Amino acid sequence: MDMITARGLRKVYGSGTAQVQALRGADLDIAAGSFTAIIGRSGSGKTTLLHILGGLERPTAGSVAVCG
Ligand SMILES: Nc1ncnc2c1ncn2[C@@H]1O[C@H](COP(=O)(O)OP(=O)(O)OP(=O)(O)O)[C@@H](O)[C@H]1O
Ligand SMILES: [Mg+2]
Repeated sequence: MDMITARGLRKVYGSGTAQVQALRGADLDIAAGSFTAIIGRSGSGKTTLLHILGGLERPTAGSVAVCG
């Protein structure tokens, strides 16, 4: 069973020439009882992803389900 399901996560910060696309359509499934590591270079969106999964930030688009 999946504990966390994310679909089509997009996050855009700022606007115009200062616009940053931090997430561009991230899909993720994390099974209950599993351990998952998020790796990537600096600025690739790891913290943004975790903030959205934890409900600290809203995605620009997409959805997150925790325990359904
Ligand atoms: N509050 C914010 N306002 C504007 N841009 C932001 C904001 N938070 C993050 N960003 C930008 O979004 C992109 C992703 O940043 P994020 O912090 O999610 O990356 P990261 O993978 O956690 O990086 P690091 O490994 O350095 O912690 C970067 O280009 C960053 O500059
Ligand atoms: Mg970070």
